[in-house]
Order: sequence, then structure tokens, then C-alpha cells
Amino acid sequence: MPQLHLDHHPAVTSFFDTQSNTISYVVKDPASSACAVIDAVMNFDYPAGRLSFSCADEIIAHITREKLTLEWIIETHVHADHLSGAPYIQERLGGKIGIGEHIQTVQETFGKVFNEGTAFQRDGSQFDALFSDGDTYTVGGMPCFALHTPGHTPACMVHVMGDAAFAGDTLFMPDGGSARADFPGGDAGQLYDSIQRVLSLPDDVRLFVCHDYGPNGRAIAWETTVGEQRAANIHVGQGASREAFVKMRTERDAQLSMPGLIIPALQVNMRAGEVPRDADGNMMIKVPVNKL
Ligand SMILES: [Fe+2]
Repeated sequence: MPQLHLDHHPAVTSFFDTQSNTISYVVKDPASSACAVIDAVMNFDYPAGRLSFSCADEIIAHITREKLTLEWIIETHVHADHLSGAPYIQERLGGKIGIGEHIQTVQETFGKVFNEGTAFQRDGSQFDALFSDGDTYTVGGMPCFALHTPGHTPACMVHVMGDAAFAGDTLFMPDGGSARADFPGGDAGQLYDSIQRVLSLPDDVRLFVCHDYGPNGRAIAWETTVGEQRAANIHVGQGASREAFVKMRTERDAQLSMPGLIIPALQVNMRAGEVPRDADGNMMIKVPVNKL
């Protein structure tokens, strides 16, 4: 585990996408105007095949209004439930798009599922930066690092920025438990091990989740702490065993249907948010039959 810098308290602004229940974040270095965006959303009306940008525009308006400098646009993983707004934001505000280096595994898997052929690079080169486990970087003067946390997907990473950690889809809020581990390349045992790494952070680290579904009718929420997760997470709290977790996760995942946007989301997100194009240059999404 790289050195923690809990004396840096970034301001975290959240943005909620009601279509996919995704929370995106703008994280501001307390000592400068530098900021990072985590898990930005591009809106997609799948029945109509139409893109729009209200979620990303909200983030852009916030960064512009606050006169921030965007240094990083980070994807915690290849999302299956929404399309990434990263390139749309980068085009307008700059910044480097980064993801975990194991994106290469994800590209290999879904390159086959979508029969992408040789034009589709599987080396992560669509992204500006690929993070390895423990890589450190900065947002302004704020020290940050990435932890490899596979299980939900092979390329998942948790990003720790000062005293704030962005959990991606490892943990949900304590009453939501954990993310599914049944997508191609997912593994419930690996997810348990990854979650233990997150839970080994100090109690008072602020933890921000990527999704919330308001279980049992409570209001949508996204901020908790490592201490709260260790004490009260319904899947991994109070020292739940690996064996019990894998059993619970496997049984639960067998009941879940595929996210509504998984087919377009994977094709776009494995390309760092670029929509694939056909031979004539038209943006075009495929539907592989009986492959997922
Ligand atoms: Fe996810």
C-alpha cells in the first residue's frame, strides 16, 4: 500500500445519473484549482439510439463556474451500466483519461464477444494513462494512488486521493453491500480479496461509491467511511468470511438480469468512451446474439 496522505481533504462534488444510478465526482485539490473527474456519464437513449450530454454538461458547468483546471478524467473500470462521458469532457476541458492496465484483459474478452477484428487495439492505447497497482500520481499538489481491486471486472481500481477513496464498483453503501461479480472476467473470491484491501485503509478514510439504488426505500446516498463499511456492510462487514461471501455473491448474481445498457456500454467504454464506427464512419453499435 502506498503512503497515505490523510492531511489532504479534497472537496468532493457529486453528480447523480438517474438512468443508471451512477454517481460521478469532481475532486478538487484543497491547495490549488486542480481537479479530477471520476466516472463521468454520457446519456444514451437506447431505444432511439440517441446520445445526449446533460450529465457531462453539468460537470463541465461546475468546473467552469469554479474556475478549476481539469487534470485527470478517471474511469474506475469499464462500466457495464452506462456509457462514459470522458472524451466529451476532455474535448472541452482537457485532462488525461486514465484506467487500470488490466483494461487489456477486458478488451481481449469483449473484443471477441463483439467480433471486433484487428482494427480494435487490445493494448489500452485508447486511454492516455494506464494505472498499475500502487501507482502514484497527483492532482495539483494532492498525492493520489490507484489500488488494483479486481473481482467485479479484471481492471477495477480504487483511487485514493488524500483522505478520500473512490470505491468504483467494489463496495456499495453499507446497506447495499457489494457489486456483482458475474460479468465475463468477474470473480467473487477476487472481489472479496479486493474489498479486504479497501477495508484495510484507516477507519476515517471517506469512501465514495459509484452506484446507489436506495435499498429499502432510503434516499440515494454515496458517501460513507471505511470504518462504517467494516462495521456494518451487509456483505463483508464484521469480518464476514470469504467462503460465505462467495456463496452469497454467486447465489445473488444468478438472480440478476443484465444491465439495460450493457451492450452499448461495453463497446463504448472499452474504447475509452468513443463510439465505434462502421466502414463508412457512422457511429454504430452491435448486438451480439447469445454471447453474454
Ligand atoms: Fe460496474
